[in-house]
Amino acid sequence: PDEVMVVFTPSGRRGRVEAGISVLDAARKLGVDLNSVCGGRGICSKCLIAPTIGQFAKHGMTSGPDALSDLNEVEQRYDRIRGLPDGRRLGCQARLLADAVIDVPPGSQLHRQVVRKSAAERVMEMDPAVRSYLVEVCQPSLEDPSSDFQRLSDALAHQWGIRGLAADLAVLVRVQQVLRKGGWQVTAIIGHQDDGSARLIDLRPGFDQNALLGLAIDLGTTTIAGHLVSLDDGRVLASSGLMNPQIRYGEDLMSRVSYGMMNAGGAQEMTDSVRVGLAELVAQLSAEAGLCAEQIVDATIVCNPVMHHLLLGLDPVELGQAPFPPAISSALHLAASELQIPINPGATVYMLPLIAGHVGADAAAVVLSEQPQKSCKPVLVVDVGTNAELVLGDRTRVLACSSPTGPAFEGAQISHGQRAAPGAIERVRIDPQTKEPRFRVIGIDAWSDEPGFAKVVGPGGVTGICGSGIIEIVAEMRMAGIMDQSGLIGSPEQTGTPRCIADGRTFSYVLHDDSAQGGPVITVSQGDIRAIQLAKSAVHAGARLLMDEFGIDELDRVVLAGAFGAHISPLHALVLGMIPNCDPARVTSAGNAAGTGARMALCSRAARREIEAQVQRITRIETAIAPLFQQHFVAANAIPHATDRFEKLAG
Ligand code: FES
Repeated sequence: PDEVMVVFTPSGRRGRVEAGISVLDAARKLGVDLNSVCGGRGICSKCLIAPTIGQFAKHGMTSGPDALSDLNEVEQRYDRIRGLPDGRRLGCQARLLADAVIDVPPGSQLHRQVVRKSAAERVMEMDPAVRSYLVEVCQPSLEDPSSDFQRLSDALAHQWGIRGLAADLAVLVRVQQVLRKGGWQVTAIIGHQDDGSARLIDLRPGFDQNALLGLAIDLGTTTIAGHLVSLDDGRVLASSGLMNPQIRYGEDLMSRVSYGMMNAGGAQEMTDSVRVGLAELVAQLSAEAGLCAEQIVDATIVCNPVMHHLLLGLDPVELGQAPFPPAISSALHLAASELQIPINPGATVYMLPLIAGHVGADAAAVVLSEQPQKSCKPVLVVDVGTNAELVLGDRTRVLACSSPTGPAFEGAQISHGQRAAPGAIERVRIDPQTKEPRFRVIGIDAWSDEPGFAKVVGPGGVTGICGSGIIEIVAEMRMAGIMDQSGLIGSPEQTGTPRCIADGRTFSYVLHDDSAQGGPVITVSQGDIRAIQLAKSAVHAGARLLMDEFGIDELDRVVLAGAFGAHISPLHALVLGMIPNCDPARVTSAGNAAGTGARMALCSRAARREIEAQVQRITRIETAIAPLFQQHFVAANAIPHATDRFEKLAG
């Protein structure tokens, strides 16, 4: 036949194509998503397809065993060297001879959805900005002595339809050598920009099979968290975090802004120190994954406006005073080398857009991750850190604000607080009768009173309490009657436990005593409780302010997120009064939502477009100048809080 009918599954796309055409070409003609890195040279195996044989009533056709041509030389060679998986063929080599049904397995789809086990079984859309292409470049000759870069650009345009190629000097210096080393066959790593232009990020001789890696960073005031991600399937290959080295210039944002104002060169010092922190994070992540940092070809960063300005070397002073205008708020594509991030020298860094001077890209990333704009009923999303990002919205509108909680939830300003890392207490339960605590420590899969616990604590022992542990312990102390509604810790007589010890003029609760083994005594002091009260009141007041603005006084659903490791326990957040009342069954925990948003933007260009459009529609609320914020803040100081009735919680 001159023409054959082909149906591609799972997309269901179908059409008549000329007989003898390759499956890859047929897929391209019909707009089917079939991958290819080598451009049909039988090298990359990204185009693997599965012919399906049988009668297909649904498609009104039969697909026979002879629908595809036999293995040609290229496919036979591939099969000999690397082995064709059972029932699979190379789509670029197999030709359509008769009507056929062809399945494109997930691994061969260019844009695909990948369901992840972590981050609440999230579906990750794969459509990264950076891809690799095998390309054959014409050799220079007396007839065509045009530049190497020109011939490379022409080859990419001709073989892949890639136009408007540009490159930084860091890559340009290697073009001549790599082209010759690869015998004029090279793998070009290309970053696609939204305006249709392309950037040459790296050039490698021959067909390069090294995985392309991306880096997603949540740059917080206190903690910097990063994920190393495969740009092929969105898998997280390593995750790591460290304290933001800027802490020595001030624990919260405003003290850093004033450090910049009071000290000549202070802002530059802070810029340098955060860049050093990022470099350290890259080193940690590559070591953990056992991969080379040069393989990282794309990066995304989410952060609040002050961190954004300090990282870029922009003056943050205006962010400290009304009307808080940022120097720039739109999304940015910057060269990694400009920010001194030691990844591939040609790599680009995508900075998510800021929402406003007080509401950052971290809030934008939370919106991207939690999608409140798609909810029928208003949902409150709270991302807790040194600043809490709060978003309240539904299909009609989305409001966002940022509330200065201080670093207590991240373990700073707490006597035995620490970053979420092995050795940190992350879960706590206190028996209301005996007032005895039990707890879980990061890295140990047992509760402290279980037999397996002691053996595995190891020489480092229990080192402190991280953010989620602090939320739980304060709520547990309240529920066990160790402290009252005002947050005052009782004496041993009042509470009936010797774990309450005098500590100056107040009392502390001993959570863990390792002194017999030469380890620390981990206590929760009255000062710690006060710091947590201030932090949780700030979150609560921010939520209230958004609810006032939205015109609701009941929350239907709340999503809790935080960068500090373990998920926040919804019940404990409610007992603490961190959020306004809500049915506990309607409060869920989402891990690090800002970090997830950063990963989504790393894996998908569509996600970048979506958040850039979405930030235009978000209404920002400035907590700093809202008089009601103070009122809500004061009312939220009690534990749980003094503003609502608690029947939902009691039930
Ligand atoms: Fe690369 Fe088929 S497209 S092997």
